[in-house]
Amino acid sequence: MSKFHKDPIFFLQIFIFLSQFTNILSQTTDFPIINCFNNHKITNFTLHPNSTHISSIHYNHFLKFSLQNLRVAKDSTPKPTAIILPESKEQLANSVLCCRGLSLEIIIRCGGHSYEGISSIPRGNNPFVIIDMMNLNRVIVDLESESAWVEGGATLGELYSAIAAHSSYYGFPAGLGPTVGVSGHFSGGGIGVLGRKYGLSADNMLDVGLIDAEGRVMGRAEMGEEIFWALRGGGGGNFGVVYGWKVQLVHVPKGLLALVLNKAQFMSWPN
Ligand SMILES: Cc1cc2nc3c(=O)[nH]c(=O)nc-3n(C[C@H](O)[C@H](O)[C@H](O)COP(=O)(O)OP(=O)(O)OC[C@H]3O[C@@H](n4cnc5c(N)ncnc54)[C@H](O)[C@@H]3O)c2cc1C
Ligand SMILES: *[C@@H]1O[C@H](CO)[C@@H](O)[C@H](O)[C@H]1NC(C)=O
Ligand SMILES: *[C@@H]1O[C@H](CO)[C@@H](O)[C@H](O)[C@H]1NC(C)=O
Repeated sequence: MSKFHKDPIFFLQIFIFLSQFTNILSQTTDFPIINCFNNHKITNFTLHPNSTHISSIHYNHFLKFSLQNLRVAKDSTPKPTAIILPESKEQLANSVLCCRGLSLEIIIRCGGHSYEGISSIPRGNNPFVIIDMMNLNRVIVDLESESAWVEGGATLGELYSAIAAHSSYYGFPAGLGPTVGVSGHFSGGGIGVLGRKYGLSADNMLDVGLIDAEGRVMGRAEMGEEIFWALRGGGGGNFGVVYGWKVQLVHVPKGLLALVLNKAQFMSWPN
């Protein structure tokens, strides 16, 4: 070995060079988060524009996609490190596990209609992710049992359309806004025009699929009646991530008194 290679300064320089290099890499390519997503088979996500990752070009689009409270869209409000758009129940459960492992606070978003904006901003100052449920919006209607399973990312409009596509005889008592999400809505009760006859959405819930902090999927039987009760009125984002709801279909009354507003009236409503 040459004299040159025994020089301790040379090794020190190599060491400093390498550590700077890996430092730059980890700052710019978000290795831990991307590794975690890959290892957990999470295929659809977008990273904060701080990242050099290709997905960040879609960040602002998905951040604002269903965000209804524009106060929380301001530059000064905290922004998520990543937005995950799970494509399956497994990806949803894995998103919970991966984010817990990285100590990222999890914010869940369904229809984005939270008045307080709590489906977009964290409770504290910690780094956080938004799990946006929009790709989990399937509705399976079963007329025989007069019920339907609706995935936790569907909107009320998607639920109503799916039921109507099967039968004009059935409906579901829930709110008026078609872009309101089923999960935030059912978690808070759900008041609508069929309420006088059938009660709240929460009164017509048969079962629920809940993902807990360990990534386990639980139904009503596993979680027990206390949690099942709390999920229907206790507010979203508190007891786990709702993967899906099983709802009781109701008979649409023959006569309905409807208040029809034109678009201009609706836009200025309730002023
Ligand atoms: C234009 C408009 C019309 C409305 N009309 C009615 C109405 O007719 N009747 C009525 O009762 N209410 C109505 N609301 C209120 C509405 O029901 C609530 O704001 C509801 O929380 C919105 O649900 P979301 O899924 O759209 O909201 P989001 O903002 O997505 O979520 C609300 C909360 O639920 C949590 N959450 C979302 N998805 C999940 C999930 N899968 N698992 C666990 N937690 C989750 C979020 O983290 C957040 O805390 C209306 C609101 C608006 C803005
Ligand atoms: C992620 O989901 C969104 C919303 O459905 C879709 O537009 C987008 O193409 C998906 N991206 C990937 C990489 O699958
Ligand atoms: C993005 O980078 C800026 C400047 O370094 C920093 O202030 C901000 O917290 C970063 N945001 C996220 C979400 O990483």
